[in-house]
Amino acid sequence: MEDILEPSQERNPGKLWSPSFIIKLNRMDLSGKNYKDFIDRNEALKKQYSPERAEKQHSKGKLTAHERISLLFDPGTFEEIDAFVTPADTPVEFGKVEKTYGDGVIVGHGKINGRLVFAYAQDFTIMGGSLGYVHSKKIAKIQEMALKMGSPIIGMMDSGGARIQEGVASLSGYASIFQNIIQSSGIIPQISLIMGPAAGGAVYSPALTDFVFMVNQTSYMFVTGPNVVKEVLNEDVTSDQLGGAEVHATKSGVAHLIYDDEENTILALKKFLSYLPSNNVENPPVLQEDATPDINEKLREIVPDDPNKPYDVKEVINLLVDRNSFFEISELFAPNLVIGFARIKGKTVGIVANQPKVLAGVLDIDSSDKGARFIRFCDAFNIPLITLEDVPGFLPGYEQEHKGIIRHGAKMLFAYSEATVPKITVILRKAYGGAFIVMNSKSLGGDFSFAWPTAEIAVMGPDGAVAILYRKELAEAKDPDKLKAELVKKYRDKIANPFIADESGYIDEVIDPAVTRKKIVSALNALSNKWVKVPARKHGNMPL
Ligand code: HXC
Repeated sequence: MEDILEPSQERNPGKLWSPSFIIKLNRMDLSGKNYKDFIDRNEALKKQYSPERAEKQHSKGKLTAHERISLLFDPGTFEEIDAFVTPADTPVEFGKVEKTYGDGVIVGHGKINGRLVFAYAQDFTIMGGSLGYVHSKKIAKIQEMALKMGSPIIGMMDSGGARIQEGVASLSGYASIFQNIIQSSGIIPQISLIMGPAAGGAVYSPALTDFVFMVNQTSYMFVTGPNVVKEVLNEDVTSDQLGGAEVHATKSGVAHLIYDDEENTILALKKFLSYLPSNNVENPPVLQEDATPDINEKLREIVPDDPNKPYDVKEVINLLVDRNSFFEISELFAPNLVIGFARIKGKTVGIVANQPKVLAGVLDIDSSDKGARFIRFCDAFNIPLITLEDVPGFLPGYEQEHKGIIRHGAKMLFAYSEATVPKITVILRKAYGGAFIVMNSKSLGGDFSFAWPTAEIAVMGPDGAVAILYRKELAEAKDPDKLKAELVKKYRDKIANPFIADESGYIDEVIDPAVTRKKIVSALNALSNKWVKVPARKHGNMPL
């Protein structure tokens, strides 16, 4: 979407990646006869990646698999493996299988900002990047290596899905890839970049990974494509309308981050990785301490006096975290809940914040799903959670109830309660009803709970409470509007404030907004050795 390049970040200078054998050939004296096969094979591989093939990709606005790898890794660090494997024979001849080297996917490892990362990039110019048996074996091999080494794995997809000619062997290949993703889930970060088609079952490997990046206009994901939609539903739809980046970023929530071109997508990914640990037993990298002030009086001015007036919670986030460190995720999907990584004193935190600017910050089905999955990722990877709360409750109405707000809201509850990382909440304004409980309340296992003096903590908002408790009186009143206004004021003054909760210990402290960062820093320090013994069980049964 936006250009994420910052002045300090250089684009990869110089030439794009070329297979490592070319460098070897230049440096070695290979005149001896024993090297003939070696040279021939390398020459053949070199020819395979011809400028014509590259042009096919470029003409579609896409980079080649090699170019993507080159942009992803620190210069000169990528080591390819299995460059010479060839496709498996097919049991029955149906369509042609190109006997190419590499079988349409580049796999290997290298360094990204100095850290070991494994990656694969599908090559659409070879049988549409389709996944044959050997292709799948290559991916599975580096998935297993990444798991053993405790390193993140990045998949760059550009594929027509299961290779039709190879039949069940390619389906089984997908199954092994899925199995590996699931076994590695919560142990190493797994990220998918969709850089072309991801069709059919091919969508499920990205869907199983932790985060999905897409490129606007040139990538799309769908289980059944436009042709099937036409046949079954007699509807005309384009690939982009059905499963383009924007659709998945705004409607389905499948894509967490989208960018306008591949270069920015890859650069964004590199920055994104800097927030994450390499695996679940490491902590995320720590950056140098930041000069963001711990006390900031501007925080006092953000929440409006009128409790029904919206404000932008991102203003609060940006004043609390290290300068320019907030990296928002799923910005366009369920924007009534804001999630993302940031740093406080150089250390990664996960932010979950209700957004009063959108639907008054209400919790609904999509925001519950969005929040729950993010909380679980942070918990798996030792990232403390900071919750900023201003939520009037769950979204009422037919649609939400019928589609299962009960089931989806329960995911947030489960995820917060189950998380054992440090959990800190700041109640900025509304904290009503079930939503108060859900947003990391202390009784649900929250570690520290602070409230601003503007906080309104109660079972429900003033209007609802007055309507229920004073129905008769209002019906009989000469001037019901006047009586209602008086009762609403009384409710706000006496009940919907942070002081009752403070006096009874349901929160830890009512704080001056200006000192919020200072309080969070102290709380994070106090929790730095937090250790929770979880009950012995196979796994809980989270509502899905
Ligand atoms: C073998 C394939 C292929 C496939 C594409 N190709 N998909 N070969 N198996 N699945 C080949 C084409 O024959 C063509 O070969 C080359 O790749 C480029 O494809 P084009 O169609 O010319 O490209 P384009 O017009 O850009 O269209 C791309 C596409 C389309 C939208 C991806 O190819 C397509 O619809 N493919 C099938 C998508 C699909 O339904 N996949 C689901 C498979 S089932 P030539 O020789 O002409 O260059 C599945 C189940 C997995 O994946 C189960 C896991 C749970």
